[in-house]
Amino acid sequence: MKQEEEGTMKKLAFMTLLISILLAGCGAPPVCICQCDCSQVTPEAAPGTPEAAPGIQLQPVRSTPEVWTYRDMVVGFIQTGSEGGWRSANTNSFKESAEELGITLKFYDSPGDLSSQERGFRQFIADQEVNVIVLAALESTGWEDELLEAKAAGKVVVLEDRRIDASQDLYATFIGADFVEEGRRAAVEMCRLVDGMAGKKVWELVGNVGSSAARDRGVGFREKAMECGIDIITSSTGNWSAVEARQLTETWLKESRDVQGIFAQNDEMALGAIEALKGAGLTPGVDVKLVSVDATFGAFEAMLAGELNVSVECNPLLAPQVYEAALKALNGESLPKWIPAMDAVFRSDMPNLQEIADNRQY
Ligand code: AHR
Repeated sequence: MKQEEEGTMKKLAFMTLLISILLAGCGAPPVCICQCDCSQVTPEAAPGTPEAAPGIQLQPVRSTPEVWTYRDMVVGFIQTGSEGGWRSANTNSFKESAEELGITLKFYDSPGDLSSQERGFRQFIADQEVNVIVLAALESTGWEDELLEAKAAGKVVVLEDRRIDASQDLYATFIGADFVEEGRRAAVEMCRLVDGMAGKKVWELVGNVGSSAARDRGVGFREKAMECGIDIITSSTGNWSAVEARQLTETWLKESRDVQGIFAQNDEMALGAIEALKGAGLTPGVDVKLVSVDATFGAFEAMLAGELNVSVECNPLLAPQVYEAALKALNGESLPKWIPAMDAVFRSDMPNLQEIADNRQY
């Protein structure tokens, strides 16, 4: 190699090193690169973290394979932040499946903060190694710019769990549940449970405002609830949290005890409401009927104890379907814009509930 070219390469290597140090110096959010167990890293990004300088090659560019395989995939996964049992099962599904399939997973967990998610998304756009970006969106609006930039950068984008309000040609596909249908199923169960009770007054514990899960479960529940005359007399966000839901329910109980049902948009919030009801001397599952969504371990324990009546499943183990779809997209195959997750409904009076609980993965 001629001396001059050698000099240029040295300069380039030095520039790359310098920029990485600079980025590290100004608190660019660390990302966890793993093909094995990845300890969760919470980004401590300082405000104004620089976007990747256009044209700066931070990572060696991987050549484009003829036919992509899982081993060629470098996935940048943007999670919502910890939200309880369902979310950790969802995160583990991605880490474990990546290990099984030999996929390089770069895991970015945002602390429940939308701007942090957007920073992570842009970081993966700039990361030349990343060929697939997977997003679990905290909120459904405001993603057009990032999606347009990802498209321009040739990244395959797959949405998982949460829908976003953006043009479908800006992402390969959405893999997740039908949250509206989950809400309908919950209402059908609540109608059955409050039938014959003194009234049909229901309180609603809502997920984080702005998320498609919270919005759509509320829509589906109201659609079916009105068919049996359920009256949703109060509704407020508990942010998917058992603690917040307990406090909210305690406040409502101080105002009135005339309630026949509680619809909790996830299991954690139902468990919080159960503690509040017990604290008020009421019998959860009897005096007040409870219906939730997710069907995690905690819900099965509460159903087996008779304190939770129904949990509508929302399957968190979405990674295999997401990786399969991403590989198809990389190989130019066309995909449906929605690949539904498989879900069921579980009731405390099911004769084989213990057996089902014994075989649950989450
Ligand atoms: O988006 C799915 C929801 O997010 C789950 O129902 C809830 O538990 C999680 O926080």
